[in-house]
Amino acid sequence: MSVSQSPAGSDGSVVIIGAGTQGRRLAFMWSRRGGAVCLVDLQKQQLEDGLKYVKQLRSAALDQEFNWGEVKVAQPDALETILQDAWLVVECVPENWALKQKVIAQLDHWAPAHTIIASNSSSYGISEIIDGLELKHRNRTLSAHCSIEIMGHRDTDPSAISLLIEQSRDHGFSPFHVKKDSIGYIYNRIWAAIKRETLLVLSEGVCTPREVDAIFKDVLKTPKGPCEQMDVVGLDVVLDIENHYADSRVGIPSEPRIYLQTMIESGRLGVKNGSGFYEYGNEFAETSHVMNTANL
Ligand SMILES: NC(=O)c1ccc[n+]([C@@H]2O[C@H](COP(=O)([O-])OP(=O)(O)OC[C@H]3O[C@@H](n4cnc5c(N)ncnc54)[C@H](O)[C@@H]3O)[C@@H](O)[C@H]2O)c1
Repeated sequence: MSVSQSPAGSDGSVVIIGAGTQGRRLAFMWSRRGGAVCLVDLQKQQLEDGLKYVKQLRSAALDQEFNWGEVKVAQPDALETILQDAWLVVECVPENWALKQKVIAQLDHWAPAHTIIASNSSSYGISEIIDGLELKHRNRTLSAHCSIEIMGHRDTDPSAISLLIEQSRDHGFSPFHVKKDSIGYIYNRIWAAIKRETLLVLSEGVCTPREVDAIFKDVLKTPKGPCEQMDVVGLDVVLDIENHYADSRVGIPSEPRIYLQTMIESGRLGVKNGSGFYEYGNEFAETSHVMNTANL
């Protein structure tokens, strides 16, 4: 069955696998226009914390148009049953290729043929994740990142992409279609180039982090500059992402990674440990992290 012939359609639920930083955020986003969401995690505590987080975001939301849908939680032993009603399932488990492969294979095994299977991975594209997997319906697998870039692989059914674009719009997202298989999403690649060049000018001693941030905010009128933003994401995470680009593409300069490695070795991880390009107190660390986790 083609995904566009889904019997559940938009009346079905969105199932999210993994109730961590991103999963709970997506549960909030997919339920803000009345859609039903089921959040699945191995750990009960993560499910409880995920629900609390959704409530917290709802009570802080100012938009009167929100029409909150039900958010249920479940553990993986109920997954096969839960999936029967799903029009979309999004994996949000940790950034580990083997784990992602295992989860996607399991979802393909249990989910009805019409259910779209998406990965929210920041660094592994769907082609890399399904590489070597024997799937029943590989044409319904794709990447759907955060809020929201949609990227298929060469066999993804175009109707799955158009259905997801249409549905995500109806659910309050502003979707973009990544038209070719790409190592990194559109926004992430552009942001990666900004981070890389920032680290390069710093490593050359051209200017200080405070000067980079000041000039960036002055010209582009953004609330944060690149160094402030990298501190929020975490310098170890920034390095992992840059390493992944360097492993997959030619021509990525090594100086930015060496500069980051030196910072990390001197104990500077960013907001999460109170010291990065800047020094932070605990209060600032918490609020800033909640607000900015999507911008890896
Ligand atoms: N953290 C971010 O800001 C961010 C932003 C964009 C994209 N992402 C992507 O989202 C994905 C998840 O990242 P995260 O930061 O939310 O991770 P996380 O570690 O915060 O959460 C992962 C959750 O998955 C659960 N889990 C692990 N194995 C599971 C399984 N087999 N079944 C069900 N649950 C399982 C864990 O218990 C945990 O709660 C990654 O692929 C990452 O690249 C993260």
